Amino acid sequence: MSSAAPAAAARPNAAQIEYWNLVAGPRWVGIGAGLDNRMARVHERLLAAASIDAGHSVLDVGCGTGTTTLACAARVGNAGRVTGIDVSAPMLEVARRRIADRGLANVSLIEADASLHPFAPHGFDRIVSRFGVMFFADPVSAFRNLFAAMRTDGVLAFVCWAPLADNPFWRIPVEIAERALGPRAPEPERAPGPMAFSDVTWVRFILESAGFCRVGVATEAVSIIGETPDEEAGFACRMGPAARLIEERAPSAALRDSICREIAASFASFASAGTTLLPATVHVVTAERAA
Ligand SMILES: C[S@@+](CC[C@H](N)C(=O)[O-])C[C@H]1O[C@@H](n2cnc3c(N)ncnc32)[C@H](O)[C@@H]1O
Repeated sequence: MSSAAPAAAARPNAAQIEYWNLVAGPRWVGIGAGLDNRMARVHERLLAAASIDAGHSVLDVGCGTGTTTLACAARVGNAGRVTGIDVSAPMLEVARRRIADRGLANVSLIEADASLHPFAPHGFDRIVSRFGVMFFADPVSAFRNLFAAMRTDGVLAFVCWAPLADNPFWRIPVEIAERALGPRAPEPERAPGPMAFSDVTWVRFILESAGFCRVGVATEAVSIIGETPDEEAGFACRMGPAARLIEERAPSAALRDSICREIAASFASFASAGTTLLPATVHVVTAERAA
């Protein structure tokens, strides 16, 4: 066996950890509060599904800059506690600042891979995640680790993206970019990434294989709340599948601008009174531990 093999096995998510530290994390931080406004509807759906009560102990997986962590902290109150775990140092830095600014004593953050971190067994009443669980190289083993960390009567609740076809806010920009730059290279099916959990059969298989029961999936239409079509087009050219294609093909500034303008023109049909409501679809997934 080569000496590289054990190292890769010990750090199965090394590529994603590097990506979230060096590329996506700094970009996410740069966008700031705008992202949270855009995701407000998704956020509400997740919190409703998680049914968090005062006094609960909650784990927020892939907590990023801490928006859901803070919302959970408000729900559990002083008698409860919230732990956010993430691999991205720049995103956690923002979360840390937000927690300190609010003087919260019931929130802690862990910089670690949630698929491997040795959580105390049966420590959490609720495990939640807003788009933070689709990046594991071995999702069954990652969810087994989370299963072990959940109390017997605990609930897991997370949101993930439905297929690209049902997400015009990603699909429209990437189709425009592909027309200008050529098709994207095919990706391995279910590879770690934003769309890895779009197939609900796969999600159910992962959770049931990891030991969870009563898996529920509600596929829900949500609006991504943007500002002007121009701003949303700028966003699509910085994050998401169109942005990745643009980055990969590195077109001239003029071609990039023309792609952005075409996206803005297309988004204009979703805009009114200074707000752009872009159609999207998420899976709201819940599961329990007790048989
Ligand atoms: C799409 S972002 C979502 C961030 C946050 N939940 C939100 O909605 O604002 C995905 C997050 O998952 C984190 N992540 C990816 N792989 C992870 C892993 N193996 N363990 C913990 N966090 C991970 C990333 O660093 C990133 O913060």
